[in-house]
Amino acid sequence: MDLNGKVVVVTGSGQGLGSAYAQALAAAGARVVVNDVNAEAAQATVEQIAAAGGTAVAEVVGVGTTEAAKTLVGRAVAEFGRLDAMVTNAGILRDKVLWNMSDDDFDAVIQVHLRGTFTCAREAVKHFREAGEGGRLILAGSPAGQRGNFGQTNYAAAKAGIAAFARTWAMECAKARITVNAIIPNAATSMTRTIPFLAPYVEAMDRGEPIPAVVRRAASFGTADDVAGLVVFLASDAAAAVTGQCIGIGGDRLSLWSHPEELRSAFRDGGWDADAIADAYPATVGEVPQTYGIPLPKIPTTQPKAAP
Ligand SMILES: NC(=O)c1ccc[n+]([C@@H]2O[C@H](COP(=O)([O-])OP(=O)(O)OC[C@H]3O[C@@H](n4cnc5c(N)ncnc54)[C@H](O)[C@@H]3O)[C@@H](O)[C@H]2O)c1
Repeated sequence: MDLNGKVVVVTGSGQGLGSAYAQALAAAGARVVVNDVNAEAAQATVEQIAAAGGTAVAEVVGVGTTEAAKTLVGRAVAEFGRLDAMVTNAGILRDKVLWNMSDDDFDAVIQVHLRGTFTCAREAVKHFREAGEGGRLILAGSPAGQRGNFGQTNYAAAKAGIAAFARTWAMECAKARITVNAIIPNAATSMTRTIPFLAPYVEAMDRGEPIPAVVRRAASFGTADDVAGLVVFLASDAAAAVTGQCIGIGGDRLSLWSHPEELRSAFRDGGWDADAIADAYPATVGEVPQTYGIPLPKIPTTQPKAAP
């Protein structure tokens, strides 16, 4: 994969998935603006890229505002003279069940994920349209946004909104040769280490043990580096025709998520009143209800060995 000559902004790339994306993009030849709210972390990613022979600069700003988005696009253009791809990856969690979720919990997550994606994408697209050379928006979705998830009112709503962004912007940006896709990742990072089901594998990784092959397949759970190849692909010329998609990746699995569509319909001359719906619903559209939530994968072998 050759990204020589391309310039990419990766938000939230001081650690975790974003850092893996920035390093993989730089390894493929792109020059990268590494963004994070954490200055030390951003600098660490820049240094890792430089040590591997790549080119990157740090821009420390919290995404969410228009000013931050302008700063990021401005830095790419000032530093490297162009912008080819915007990867909106920055994220936080404030998990609580609905009745315990405060306005602040809700707003903080919406601000970083949904507004951060909106503002960064808007600034990037303005630049892409002016430059007239096409462009790439690579958005961070989540299984929580595709399916809903217990305790994640704010996060699931933001991520569902981001999937809707991808489908909407793919239409709006097609004429300008700008592709827009959402990644639905799954990887061991500080964000996922607190999920009880995944914690044993993250702890095993911390002890230097590899994630078992069966987990990499059944749970599609691996390292951040396992996800980075998808970002490099989407930023490359090879993905020029891929747009409007939600693409899953994690461990050994690459997948395509479906988009919502009507599954079953029923018709009644003159339309439906409540009594008619009550009569017809169980045997027509309601016959097989849709599931919701992220199903726990069935892992056919035992848990990873404990440390001696
Ligand atoms: N890890 C997974 O399995 C997984 C699954 C689904 C979705 N995601 C999404 O992938 C993205 C990266 O997640 P991760 O697991 O690497 O998380 P992480 O917590 O390891 O990294 C997130 C980074 O974003 C930075 N950040 C937070 N707020 C910011 C802001 N306002 N501006 C700039 N940077 C900010 C943090 O400082 C941190 O470096 C997130 O959008 C997350 O929702 C991750």
